Amino acid sequence: MPKGSQVQAMFSGIAGRYDLLNHVLSLGTDFYWWRRMARASGAGPGRRYLDVAAGTGDSSLALARRGAEVVSTDFTQEMLRLGPPKFQRKGRADLIWASVGADAQHLPFGEGTFDGITICYGIRNVEDRDRAYGEFLRVLKPGGRLTILEFSRPRFAWLRVLYDTYSRRILPRIGGWISGDPGAYTYLPESIRTFPDQPSLAAELGRAGFRDVGWTNLTGGIVALHVATKG
Ligand SMILES: C[S@@+](CC[C@H](N)C(=O)[O-])C[C@H]1O[C@@H](n2cnc3c(N)ncnc32)[C@H](O)[C@@H]1O
Repeated sequence: MPKGSQVQAMFSGIAGRYDLLNHVLSLGTDFYWWRRMARASGAGPGRRYLDVAAGTGDSSLALARRGAEVVSTDFTQEMLRLGPPKFQRKGRADLIWASVGADAQHLPFGEGTFDGITICYGIRNVEDRDRAYGEFLRVLKPGGRLTILEFSRPRFAWLRVLYDTYSRRILPRIGGWISGDPGAYTYLPESIRTFPDQPSLAAELGRAGFRDVGWTNLTGGIVALHVATKG
């Protein structure tokens, strides 16, 4: 099965438990990481953002909380459909559109549509990242900003050892137990280990044609925020 279909099948299977698992496995740090992402993205009133691989929409909510208009999109319908009731409950439904099922590698939007694009914990799963970067550049306005929030390489050796133990031994057990799919939470640490570290991802974005590429480590580099601009 192609990687995209496997990823869709995996997220379809865990969609109902995804939010709970995020909060439990990150020990509640996920909300802080989304807030930092939204701040770094430059989202604000009167600005239009595309949240790619938005899943159940918590990343989109963080952008709307800063006053931006958000198109919340994902290629897994089972994840995407959980967003709107949440946006209603949180009183942000007027700012978020979540009806577009789209693959990051083929975005159904015109050139220069968005002031910013965000992708949180999604780019790691995309089969052809260069193709996705090409799409991001196409639909961004000139000067528009791409913000990537993604698991990365912890900066300190002791933290790497601690995090490695957690992600190999503890996370798959808790993840499998709550979601009912042990495979999904074995895939997570594996996909993080094979994903480029902070400087490699920055170099990749530069090669794709972005300028002013930089990154900030959060929680010791367990996750990193990369920001890049369309020239
Ligand atoms: C870990 S979830 C992240 C959801 C949300 N951004 C968050 O911060 O909670 C990853 C999401 O990426 C989506 N995804 C993976 N590859 C994708 C692709 N090529 N195009 C669109 N969505 C994709 C999956 O369907 C899944 O909902």
